[in-house]
Amino acid sequence: MLASTALAIGAACAVSAQQAPAPAIPPEAIAHPDIWPQAHWPYKADPALEKRIAGLLQRMTVEEKVGQVVQADIASVTPADVKQYHLGSVLNGGSSGPYGDDLAPAAKWLQLADEFYAASVDKSGGGVGIPVIWGIDAVHGNSNIIGATLFPHNVGLGAMHDPALMRRIAEATAAEIRVTGQEWTFAPTITVPQDGRWGRAYEGYSSDPRLVSDYVGQFIRGLQGEPGATDILKGPHVIASTKHFLADGGTEDGHDQGDAKISEAELRDIHGLPYVAAIDAGVQTVMTSFSSWNGVKMAGNKSLVTGVLKDRMGFGGFVVSDWNAHGQVAGCTNASCPQAINAGLDMYMAPDSWKPLWHSLLAQVKDGTIPMARLDDAVTRILRVKMRLGLFEAGKPSSRLLSGRYDVLGSPEHRAIARQAVRESLVLLKNNGSVLPLNPGANILVAGDGADDVARQSGGWTLSWQGTGLKPEDFPGATSIWAGLNSAIGAAGGTATLSPDGSFTGAKPDAAIVVFGETPYAEFQGDLKTLQLKPELRAPLATMKKLKAQGIPVVALMLTGRPLFVNPEINAADAFVVAWLPGSEGAGVADMLLAGTDGKVAHEFRGTLSFPWPATADAKGKHLFALGYGLKTTSDTAVPPLSEDPGVADNAQQGTYFANGVPAASWSLIVADAAGQQTRITTVPATGANGDVAVTATDHIVQEGARRFAFGGKAQATIALTTQAPVDVARESNGDLMLVTTMRVDTAPASTLTLSARSGTASASVPLAGLAAPGAWRTYGVPLKCFANQGVDMEHLDVPFALTTSGKAVISLATVQLGTVADQIAACPK
Ligand code: BGC
Ligand code: BGC
Repeated sequence: MLASTALAIGAACAVSAQQAPAPAIPPEAIAHPDIWPQAHWPYKADPALEKRIAGLLQRMTVEEKVGQVVQADIASVTPADVKQYHLGSVLNGGSSGPYGDDLAPAAKWLQLADEFYAASVDKSGGGVGIPVIWGIDAVHGNSNIIGATLFPHNVGLGAMHDPALMRRIAEATAAEIRVTGQEWTFAPTITVPQDGRWGRAYEGYSSDPRLVSDYVGQFIRGLQGEPGATDILKGPHVIASTKHFLADGGTEDGHDQGDAKISEAELRDIHGLPYVAAIDAGVQTVMTSFSSWNGVKMAGNKSLVTGVLKDRMGFGGFVVSDWNAHGQVAGCTNASCPQAINAGLDMYMAPDSWKPLWHSLLAQVKDGTIPMARLDDAVTRILRVKMRLGLFEAGKPSSRLLSGRYDVLGSPEHRAIARQAVRESLVLLKNNGSVLPLNPGANILVAGDGADDVARQSGGWTLSWQGTGLKPEDFPGATSIWAGLNSAIGAAGGTATLSPDGSFTGAKPDAAIVVFGETPYAEFQGDLKTLQLKPELRAPLATMKKLKAQGIPVVALMLTGRPLFVNPEINAADAFVVAWLPGSEGAGVADMLLAGTDGKVAHEFRGTLSFPWPATADAKGKHLFALGYGLKTTSDTAVPPLSEDPGVADNAQQGTYFANGVPAASWSLIVADAAGQQTRITTVPATGANGDVAVTATDHIVQEGARRFAFGGKAQATIALTTQAPVDVARESNGDLMLVTTMRVDTAPASTLTLSARSGTASASVPLAGLAAPGAWRTYGVPLKCFANQGVDMEHLDVPFALTTSGKAVISLATVQLGTVADQIAACPK
């Protein structure tokens, strides 16, 4: 066993020795630490602690040291692995949960934390037994855990301008993390997003670095305790991680994991500023960004990680990388990257790559590629943090303060803090005719597809990575916006009616609240080309117009991760409120929209924009409302009618229905038989059409990025994308937009393949000609007007894509979206 491992490493080394050296870092990506600010790290050198660490280091083998600098994901590592490889840390990625269950109950998280801990301190096979730490993305509350309080996402917290409340939010979050046994959160995100097209903009407090700086210190105090604190685990605290160092919010065109092509001064003054406050507050860890500065990936930039962060700013914690981000450093792979530790990284986040990485690191230390002094420094930094935590004395997770106190998860006290945060974060952009506050004793219609949906109001990084695939039952104790309104209106003697499409029977409502906006997303999925709502999310505009035409005052309530061009909605509504992504305490919305029973304003708006609001959908265009804008209910500023010209071609907007092997949010992938009997495909492998169609995963760009459909040919069968919320693509159909699909023919169809679209019962089909030879990916476009010409109502499209055939065929499908380019364009039937 040992011998064969050694052989394998030897072989790997021989290969790596022949690898071309990593390209030299260009001068524009080399920072000058002396022009950067200094921070005040609050921990004094502690000789006793250093002596203890030196003693440990002396007794540790190289294998144990290498283990400390490697972090594995719980979906890819077992407690036995942690013991065998002496791993320093585990994490759960956004889609990983205990024992393979992302939605596992709180007790399972604690149980697994005990198992990892026990394995790490088990010295039965030798070794010093250093306790493991577990990092979790508790980014808006302990947001991976069912029943936890979900605070507004950072974009909303920024609008509060309330650093003191930030501290209380962090304290509540730390307490809820301690319930499930973790010691470390990958928060706060102190990005300073400069482009709203970035799908992670909502993870930032503000585009203004000063506001971010004002917040970070308080938030870290709330998580970790006072700067300089030791024995952190003795209190209701955890350690923090500020991320993502550096300029994750400064990438070109807002591309996730992109490149910030900016000067060093801009890098320092906009993106670097909050790190000074973070270090002053004693943040224990810093996570490097996936992104680049002037073409060089952060995890490999020594001038920034070592030169600026550690040496100049005096950061005395440890640096962790992002999810396999080291693999993106020039010359690296996920399995091998000495460049990162040599640049100053202390811990590799190597979710599924930890084992080959561990072996390569070991070999690289042994052959001197990684200096032993650098490894010792990284381990020392990690051990210092573990000692400040008091981890060596804390005992197993379940024995610690607050562990297993499930009453603390989503406790009334914490929910009250979150509800206050919701109140403070709402921003009033328009209140013409003083429509707000609404009389709670009136007859109020609550419309819009987002009104009664806690998952929707909570956004990404909620229970699942993208915040998708969740059911109402997954949110015990939470309050949807509708539920909050309904209970407050009911209590005041009024009548509330929930009607997503805005229809009503009986008495005309006195006012209507229309909830609309974005659906959840996280990395990649949220990136936009222009600052517009996706076409499939625009239907509530028609609802607003319809209600207004009937003389009903309309309050638009927008759920969003960022300011977007929504002038048509602002025009259509009398009052317009941005709720951001408020989280589990939807009752905070009712607090703001409704008057007290005395008819007076119950809670005055205090939220103001922490990002400017765009005048058009052009991310580089003018602003409609400046940073700091926000009305009071009592102000009489009227917003005049606004231009509805987005200023950019609407077709720059992506309408994506299927990508990365899964349907887009609010879409379903189904297989139907000739009689129209449907099977919804949520996991693979699966079968449909009475067993005649087999669905499996296949790769496209990324692993399992597509679905493969084997048609058995017993009878006609169809695969389709369907939705409960039909989309309006009428405008797109007038232009030259197409439905574009990326497909691979694996086995040529025995009979014709047709592509059809449907609105209600109207449908239109186009035969697909010019199919590529088996094995090649190809994009096929069908002009939307082909469907419109055949009588499909493009304002209410509910099946944009259905692929039908009667014979045998094997087809793989990677994407279905609106677009303007395709390899093969179908001709519209005459
Ligand atoms: C994200 C980080 C996150 C980490 C662990 C990464 O892909 O960029 O923000 O902390 O995954 O889930
Ligand atoms: C994980 C996330 C991580 C992402 C990186 C996902 O599979 O669940 O935590 O941020 O991968 O792209």
